[in-house]
Amino acid sequence: MILPALEGVIEQIKERVDLASLIGAQVTLKKSGRSLKGLCPFHSEKTPSFYVFPDKGNYHCFGCGANGDVFTYVMRTQNLAFGDALRLLAQQAGVALPERRAETAEDRALERLREVNVAAAQFYQQQLRGEAGRLGREYLEKRGLSQATLESFQIGVAPDGWDHLLRYLAERGFSLDEIVHAGLATAREGGGGHYDRFRNRVMLPISDAKGRVVGFGARALDDSLPKYLNSPQTPLFDKGGSLYAIDKAIPGIRERGFAVIVEGYFDAVFLHQYGINNIVASLGTALTERQVSLLKRHTKKLVLALDADAAGAEATRRGLEVAIEVFDRKVSPVPTGRGRVRYEETVDADIRILQLPEGKDPDEVVKEDPAQWDQLLEGAQPVLDFYFALTIARLDLSQPGDKSKAVEQLLPVIRELAGDKVRQWHYVQRLANMVRVDERVLLSRLEQLGRGPVRQQAPRGAPAAKRAGPNLEEYYLGLLLANLEQVPVELLLHPSDVTEALVREPLEVVREMRAAGPLVLSRLLAELDPALRVYCTGLQEKALALPPLEEGDWLSVLEELALRVQEGSCRRALREYKYLIREAEDSKETAELADLLRTHGEVELRLASIQRLQAQRQELRRH
Ligand code: UTP
Ligand code: MN
Repeated sequence: MILPALEGVIEQIKERVDLASLIGAQVTLKKSGRSLKGLCPFHSEKTPSFYVFPDKGNYHCFGCGANGDVFTYVMRTQNLAFGDALRLLAQQAGVALPERRAETAEDRALERLREVNVAAAQFYQQQLRGEAGRLGREYLEKRGLSQATLESFQIGVAPDGWDHLLRYLAERGFSLDEIVHAGLATAREGGGGHYDRFRNRVMLPISDAKGRVVGFGARALDDSLPKYLNSPQTPLFDKGGSLYAIDKAIPGIRERGFAVIVEGYFDAVFLHQYGINNIVASLGTALTERQVSLLKRHTKKLVLALDADAAGAEATRRGLEVAIEVFDRKVSPVPTGRGRVRYEETVDADIRILQLPEGKDPDEVVKEDPAQWDQLLEGAQPVLDFYFALTIARLDLSQPGDKSKAVEQLLPVIRELAGDKVRQWHYVQRLANMVRVDERVLLSRLEQLGRGPVRQQAPRGAPAAKRAGPNLEEYYLGLLLANLEQVPVELLLHPSDVTEALVREPLEVVREMRAAGPLVLSRLLAELDPALRVYCTGLQEKALALPPLEEGDWLSVLEELALRVQEGSCRRALREYKYLIREAEDSKETAELADLLRTHGEVELRLASIQRLQAQRQELRRH
């Protein structure tokens, strides 16, 4: 939490840190009137539309809309949380920070978990260098990894034996509890002590975006099963929220302007070794929303590199749905008659599918001929084209029944392009050609879809989204702030239900404030860092400027929004749990599986109760 005393510090930092030279170190800036101009570091462009205003201490990109001050700049470019950016900048500026809040027991426990993981990674690396690592070294050599790669990815080996790691960690003062908690040791059945979870495997540390080890992927040295064993879910490691090599890939993603997601750990390592540095790997599950969100901070261009075979295509389709859902659904107001405004959503992202040659993994492709990678990238298809092809491949378009199926499956996707009429038209034409139906017929079907039940149920002035994307969250926050002092407690969302970090932070403060006493808008705003404050007041103004709400109406809209955001959060969680459950089933992790099933059940119950409330509301509205 940001204490009011920090405000002075923030101002001081802004005075002392020269934004223009800070940005100028990464972007070539040219003078343009009172501002400076250059190529935007947040999206890729050929003509500069990124402006820095040194007097005001902020920047703005007219291409992608990125804007902010020295804090948001450092947060985004270095992928730091506000607190970390603050500490970094304070140090650079020579400004002393007020005392940090006391460390809680929870912080301390997390810190210990981090330390165990780091120690384990060191142990495995050590083992790889020693006698016990001979087989591991041979294996890695055979796979073509260089010494430098092994070191940079901190690759190691877990020796064969039951308690090598346990003993090593115990000697370094870690308790059994901590080791088990970190997922590095398992209790023997029947309660007779513990043993190392990872044995006789190549160890690949999985790091978070800041490069801190949070868990491990472990590959068998031979054909034993499972081929890969991963760390279980721990307070640090969340499979659905991690991407392998993300820390290594961030600079490459920025440099190249896009990210490539591969399926295998070794594919990611190998491609990095070849200087292809914008690669991350999903951890054996289909892509989750949280994984995509990790990338979204750095680029809007994603390439999914996937198997050519049918299973790959199926996985792709699932991954696609997620990717399409998470990417910024830009909501744009569309004026309609009688002063009403309708909101339309469009997917604001460029997602492409790279199809690998039959039966080949990316590492093999690159090993064969590095130039082949670039060719495959060239040939990556926009997700929609791919989706079209995939749908068609399973149908026989000479059959009338299959023609309707094609229309049924593809039109809703085309509808998502509502904000880009040119593109939408392009796909309507394509579909019309494929099924040999007049375009006008499809267009009128599209119209009907657009006015389907989903939209009619939307609260007036609310984004017409069925799912709770970031924009519903923003709308919720704006409306909440606009009425903060009168909002009933049960409409305060828990921060963990929202995905957008910028929305989450103010909600955290709301929660803390609420625990301590009444909610006061001015005090709330004072607790936020200035950039966030500007963002919040902007949302608040937007919410106030929405089409006329009758007296008392805001409460109903806020309730609807709160329900939708929670519904979205449950659905997201359920989708992700489903993948994790499938995984746990495959790898026979019974304890983890039981855990996951229980949580999945709890979320299902919660979703059901949210839906009940929504149904009640509809019932009420009808009367
Ligand atoms: P693959 O089976 O395609 O393996 O799994 P791979 O990456 O090509 O493995 P190599 O090249 O034989 O070493 C793809 C990814 O799925 C996850 C891992 O993340 C793996 O990299 N996976 C696979 C598991 O988590 N567990 C498994 O048992 C298998
Ligand atoms: Mn492979």
